[in-house]
Amino acid sequence: MTVALIYNLKAEALSHLSHGDDGQQLSSPNASTSPSDSTLDLRKRHKEKDMYAEWDTEETVNAVRDAIAERYNIVMIEANEQAYPKLVTVRPDFVFNIAEGLHGVSREAQIPAMLEMLRIPYLGSDPLTLGICLDKARAKEILSYHKIPTAGFTVISSMGQFEDVRLKFPAIVKPLHEGSSKGIYNSCVVRNPDELANEVKIILDTYNEPALVEDFLPGREFTVAMLGNGDDVQVLPIVEIKFDALPDGVNPIYSYEAKWIWDQRDTPLDVFECPARIDDSLTDEISMVCRDAYRVLNCRDWSRIDVRLDSHGRPNILEINPLPGILPNPEDNSCFPKAARAVGVSYNQLINAVLDIAMKRNGITPITKTSEVAILTQ
Ligand SMILES: Nc1ncnc2c1ncn2[C@@H]1O[C@H](COP(=O)(O)OP(=O)(O)O)[C@@H](O)[C@H]1O
Ligand SMILES: [Mg+2]
Repeated sequence: MTVALIYNLKAEALSHLSHGDDGQQLSSPNASTSPSDSTLDLRKRHKEKDMYAEWDTEETVNAVRDAIAERYNIVMIEANEQAYPKLVTVRPDFVFNIAEGLHGVSREAQIPAMLEMLRIPYLGSDPLTLGICLDKARAKEILSYHKIPTAGFTVISSMGQFEDVRLKFPAIVKPLHEGSSKGIYNSCVVRNPDELANEVKIILDTYNEPALVEDFLPGREFTVAMLGNGDDVQVLPIVEIKFDALPDGVNPIYSYEAKWIWDQRDTPLDVFECPARIDDSLTDEISMVCRDAYRVLNCRDWSRIDVRLDSHGRPNILEINPLPGILPNPEDNSCFPKAARAVGVSYNQLINAVLDIAMKRNGITPITKTSEVAILTQ
């Protein structure tokens, strides 16, 4: 049986330093470590690298390839314009999709849409779920419809729109459809209309996309790795993001600076705690809200869900990541592999477990290299 791994590889020049989550590594060779650095300067400096923040490094792509190759014949397909003809020629039996795409709001949906057209079964969520989750406001609309807690929000597409908008402060301003903390800087937490207008303008100008303005959730933050489908969805040990590890005086958010600049391999920020130190009732409440979000958004096989407590201590959904980051090196603090390690599941076991889950969902009996040899020698 042949499994194709479809991926976007970050160019070598962009991937030589730093670390973080969401399937990426980003360099910051000249980055200041000062939290007082001007946001605008930082954004300019990082904009080009920022563009590829979601893509995977060679280290990640190779690690996933090696894990799959333990049991299957593997074909590597880069998610570029040649992906479609290559898929037509190769026609793999199954696809392990980790491609984040590059262009447009439907970028994560493009490869799964090709696979559906070609009727090639694949791992992970379908194009619709990937598209919806990348547009954080669309995902929040669905959550709200199902009465799943999520912060109040407004989408601002132009500076002229401000007059119609009534907002509470503090608020947080983020790009509508990015990941990997792209565009989420320390200064994105705003406390008055002037700060708000300034941040919205920066997002409209820098990313050329609407700004999502949300009520600021002041409580503890968690990220939750989920595996499985239907009644078999498993919640892995919850990871807490500990804001007391951030430099003094900065806003308590997991910002671009926190992910890419203040956290370096030689001076790591101790931001994650897994399993989170929370009591059983909060664990249950967080798990329940994540299971509900996973279900109503039709997530498949796996996802990582960000959660933050509101002022009443109630868990709210921040966002759903149906293409979770899976950096293999434990030093890189990637939360999905970290949660798996907390229950004794190694990286290769995790990759193969999700592959089994996805094949089962597709009604496919895995024919591994070992079983192929057994069949041939019968
Ligand atoms: N409504 C909110 N209230 C408080 N903090 C928030 C809110 N939205 C985002 N954040 C902070 O910003 C971080 C990044 O936001 P998120 O929507 O998860 O973006 P990304 O897709 O880049 O991970 C979160 O981990 C959290 O610390
Ligand atoms: Mg997030």
